[in-house]
Amino acid sequence: MKRSVLSGLRAFSRTASIQQQQVRLVSNDISHRQQSTAPHPSLATPTPDPFHLVHGDLACMFEDIQQELSTSLVMDSQLDTMAKYYFDGGGKCVRPVIAMCLGHAYNMHLGVTDINVVNNQRKVAIISEMIHTASLVHDDILDHAETRRGKESVNMKWGNKRSAMAGDYILAVGSRILARIGNQEVLIVLSQVLADLVQGEFMQLQTKEDEEERFQHYLTKSFNKTASLMALSCKANAVLAGGNQAEIDHAFDYGRNIGIAFQLVDDLLDFVSSADLLGKPAAADLHLGLATAPVLFATSKFPELNEMIARRFSAPGDVETAFKCVLASGGLQQTRDLASRHCAQAVDSLSGLRESRYRGALIGLCDTVLNRMK
Ligand code: FPP
Ligand code: MG
Repeated sequence: MKRSVLSGLRAFSRTASIQQQQVRLVSNDISHRQQSTAPHPSLATPTPDPFHLVHGDLACMFEDIQQELSTSLVMDSQLDTMAKYYFDGGGKCVRPVIAMCLGHAYNMHLGVTDINVVNNQRKVAIISEMIHTASLVHDDILDHAETRRGKESVNMKWGNKRSAMAGDYILAVGSRILARIGNQEVLIVLSQVLADLVQGEFMQLQTKEDEEERFQHYLTKSFNKTASLMALSCKANAVLAGGNQAEIDHAFDYGRNIGIAFQLVDDLLDFVSSADLLGKPAAADLHLGLATAPVLFATSKFPELNEMIARRFSAPGDVETAFKCVLASGGLQQTRDLASRHCAQAVDSLSGLRESRYRGALIGLCDTVLNRMK
């Protein structure tokens, strides 16, 4: 299991440009990376690899989650198998890596050395992965997904009813870990993630009539669906480190901005990456009737897209036409530029932190998010 966790982490970071030359400095383990066009390693300041830095914290994460999931069950059961199905080390683990790096960066900034603090921050990281995975189980039911990360989706394998309950069960076990942290503020902060996720899904069902309002609606939805979990896990770990209000707000801002950038890149990849790399069909969003940033940007060059957006690409030929318009519009570059601006804001929000390899890793992560291919 440890090996598969590390390979999941590697698969994500392998796609980033800034980290390509630095990793060999800290580990021979992660060596199969493409050569970067960045300065020669001896001339560049090495950026710590976030995935490697927190490997010690997260190497056993999936084993721990699987053990927690089994704890409440009186015997081997289908629920056990289903709840563990997506915790197979195939995910990118980006959320726990962010939460852990941020926790360590704040501990170093504030001079925190208490191991109990780190243990609780690790619980937050684990809970973030559990909430994320539970939301994917529910999402696959709602999206009628056939595959997830290249394997048969949970809903296809076991049906919707059982899958919904498996997702709920993961949340229940995550809540138990949250209770064990024993910090009321952290409890409130992480509970908000669930409320935001559900509201994000509701927002995704709506199409704003007013074309002007559509972009704001999309950004708020992206915060709720994706960035909230990152922002609030960062906030929780800053709270646990004992940060003051301004420091806690900066932690939230880092997570919010990298989270929005992450979603923008996700929406971009839906147009440019292959189904093989994504482990799910490409152009899935258009097929689901969703107008994401690339389409919304493309409307300025192709106003005819507005009608297609309003009918959620439901008329014959809509998906194909919209796809072509996006590619011809410059909307993909505009999406990347916006993601880049959010990453710059994420980096800015760390400017008050004492320098540390964890702070460096959080900065490098922005580059990873921008340059990923899946
Ligand atoms: C992936 O979206 C889905 C999410 C990030 C959130 C889904 C949230 C819910 C279903 C609300 C319920 C939440 C809980 C915690 C039970 P996507 O379809 O854009 O991504 P994909 O292409 O990976 O499927
Ligand atoms: Mg989906």
